[in-house]
Amino acid sequence: MDDAELAQLLKNDRYPRSAGYPARWMVDASMGPNPLWQAEALIEHLPLQPGQRVLDLGCGTALSSIFLAKEYGVEVWATDLWIQPDENLRRITEAGVDDQVHPIHAEAHALPYAENFFDAVISIGAYHYFGTDDLYLGYLTRFLKPGGRLGISLPGSIDEPETLPPPHLASYWKWDFCAWHSPAWWRHHWEKTGLVTVELADRLPHSWHDWLQWNDACDLDAGTPGREEAQMLRADNGRTLGLTRVIART
Ligand SMILES: C[S@@+](CC[C@H](N)C(=O)[O-])C[C@H]1O[C@@H](n2cnc3c(N)ncnc32)[C@H](O)[C@@H]1O
Repeated sequence: MDDAELAQLLKNDRYPRSAGYPARWMVDASMGPNPLWQAEALIEHLPLQPGQRVLDLGCGTALSSIFLAKEYGVEVWATDLWIQPDENLRRITEAGVDDQVHPIHAEAHALPYAENFFDAVISIGAYHYFGTDDLYLGYLTRFLKPGGRLGISLPGSIDEPETLPPPHLASYWKWDFCAWHSPAWWRHHWEKTGLVTVELADRLPHSWHDWLQWNDACDLDAGTPGREEAQMLRADNGRTLGLTRVIART
C-alpha cells in the first residue's frame, strides 16, 4: 500500500496533534494500537509544561516519547525492556529530538533513576505487564516528585466479567488478556494503596473504534498479527473491549 493510502485509512480527527506525523512512520514502528493517539488522549487530562521531566515507561519504539518531546517541549526518558536503546536512538535522532529524548534499557522493577526525579510518568500499552502487582505503585511513585502525575493507557474491559473469557470472545482469547482490567479495577487498585489520588479512570472515548481502525489499517498494509485482534474487536462490537485510561497524582 502506498503512503498516501495508508494516511487516508488512518485519518482520525480526534487526534489533531498526531495528524502531523506520517502514518508510515507510525505503522512501521507499531507494537500495538497507535501510541500517539493514546499519548494525545492522556495529555488532554495530564497537562505537561515545557522542560518537565517525563518517564515514558514501556515506550517500545519510543514513538510516544518523540511525540511528547516535540509537542509539549518536555524531556523524556524513553525506557523499555524489549526494544534496544540503540534502535530507539536512531529513531530519536532522525526525529531531531536527541537533545530531549534519552533511550534507556531497563526492567520496570529496576529503574535506574533517582527518587523524586520525574514530574510525570506515562505508560502506553505496557503497564499491565508489570503494574497489576499490588505493590508496584509504591515502587514507581518513589521516582515522582511530590504532586507528580502518573498516566496510563492500556487495553481493558468495560467491567470485570465473573468468568473469563467472555463467551462471545472465547475463540479469540489469549490467557494474558486476563490483565486487561476495567477503569474501576484500576481506580481501586491504586486508591487502596493510599499513595495517590486518582483524578480520572475511564474508558478512553471511541477507543474501541480507534483500535479497530488502527489494526485494520496495519492489516491492509502488511497483513500483520493485528488481523486476529481486529477480528476479535469486530466480534466484540464495543461490548467489552476498549482502552482504559487512568490518571493520578501523588
Ligand atoms: C505492546 S508494547 C507497547 C509499546 C509502546 N508503548 C507502544 O504503545 O507502542 C509493550 C512494551 O512494554 C514493555 N515491557 C513489558 N514488560 C516490561 C518490563 N517488565 N519492564 C519494562 N518494559 C516492559 C515492552 O518492552 C514493550 O515494548
